[in-house]
Amino acid sequence: MTVRFPDPSSRSAALFERAKRVFPGGSTRGQTYMRPYMIYAREAKGCRITDVDGVERIDFINNFTTQLHGHSHPAIVAALQAQAGKGTGFNFATEAEIELAELIQPRAKSFERIRFCNTGTEAVMHAIKAARALSGRPKIAKCEGVYHGAYDYAEVSLDPDPQAWGRDEPASVGFAKGAPERMSEDVVMVPFNDVETTRRVLEKYRGELAAFVLDAVPSRCGGRRVSPAYAALARDYTRREGALLILDEVVTFRLGTGGAQTLYGIEPDITTLGKIIGGGLAVGALAGTTAAMAAFDQSAGKAAVPQSGTFTANPLTMAAGIASMKLVTKDTLDRLNALGEKARGAVREAFRAAGVTAQVFGEGSLVVITFGAAPPETYRDVYLANAAGGAQAMEELWKRLLNHGVLWSTTGLGCLSTPMGETEVAHLGEAMLASLREMKADGLERLFP
Ligand SMILES: Cc1ncc(COP(=O)(O)O)c(C=O)c1O
Repeated sequence: MTVRFPDPSSRSAALFERAKRVFPGGSTRGQTYMRPYMIYAREAKGCRITDVDGVERIDFINNFTTQLHGHSHPAIVAALQAQAGKGTGFNFATEAEIELAELIQPRAKSFERIRFCNTGTEAVMHAIKAARALSGRPKIAKCEGVYHGAYDYAEVSLDPDPQAWGRDEPASVGFAKGAPERMSEDVVMVPFNDVETTRRVLEKYRGELAAFVLDAVPSRCGGRRVSPAYAALARDYTRREGALLILDEVVTFRLGTGGAQTLYGIEPDITTLGKIIGGGLAVGALAGTTAAMAAFDQSAGKAAVPQSGTFTANPLTMAAGIASMKLVTKDTLDRLNALGEKARGAVREAFRAAGVTAQVFGEGSLVVITFGAAPPETYRDVYLANAAGGAQAMEELWKRLLNHGVLWSTTGLGCLSTPMGETEVAHLGEAMLASLREMKADGLERLFP
């Protein structure tokens, strides 16, 4: 098909007009929002996704890293079909929830006990609640600009601008309009991988923190991995202070069979999980030490943190999750991570050949592009590169990639899925180069920071 984005006569454009009559601004999900209209999916199989206009693309975002095995994997489809005929939700527990937990538990030392929920957002929220309950303290620390889902506290300082972000130590700035200022006071902000500043800030809040929430490879910090010194600071400080180290592995669990923690030697008290463990269905989970997870134990009366949810551990998610996690083996991830290294190489080479400066980082099967000459390390580095034209350049690149058969994200994040091979990575490199050359031909060099 030759429909090029944007095309006002496309079926997607027509659907968007219809959507505007039911959704505010035409959209029901921020991540799928696109200008001038949203593209609507018809179907997806393996690593390829076809839109309602019949345009097929290679899916390099995989529902924001969720579809580790691509779309409609036969084992996951079969598991879902088998379960659908047996019921989709009960007020009984199921054997499937135990089986999925058993598939996750042996993967990391800290996974002594597990609880399921429905999203990564919920997992982070419940982990923070557990930390508060166990410590009796309201405050948490998190890294500036890092995304941990939509819980108000986790959203603090998600996108501060230089006027608001503070100088000697990062300010805590509410994200959604109307977020109570008092709430921001309970979220202490630290800069990712900046050991000196973080140590100074943490020392100021001795005895006050319930938890440090950390992502080992935050995509909003340019895809850099946590330094061993930074991870050690977070671990040592929380252990010494009687606070929890909450490691958010909602995305990074795809990096190794036991997630980033086994690769980088981090031992959190609670890990938040999501995305790949649900085989493509809505899911979240908390996995942690027996002592930390005791916050959710209701066997002796009301739990310190009551945690439930109508759809929690629903049998469809559990069935898809079991099928998915059975496929997450060391061999599979080793191959995918090696392909990820090739993909980063192909993207770097495309930028070099096009004569455009960008930084390409990411770990394992994650690829993060940041326009500009300076390797980013923190949210502020990425912010400044984006403000200098990088964000607009990324959006323009993303649009052109769509017309070269590649679905990426507008934020610069891309990821691989197991159905991919050398062919798809080669296509990615060619599509990047062609798209960057088009941008130059269109006079968009002014956007490159
Ligand atoms: C690191 C991280 N934590 C938490 C979340 C929230 O997960 P969910 O979208 O399932 O609520 C996300 C979502 O992208 C994430 O990237």
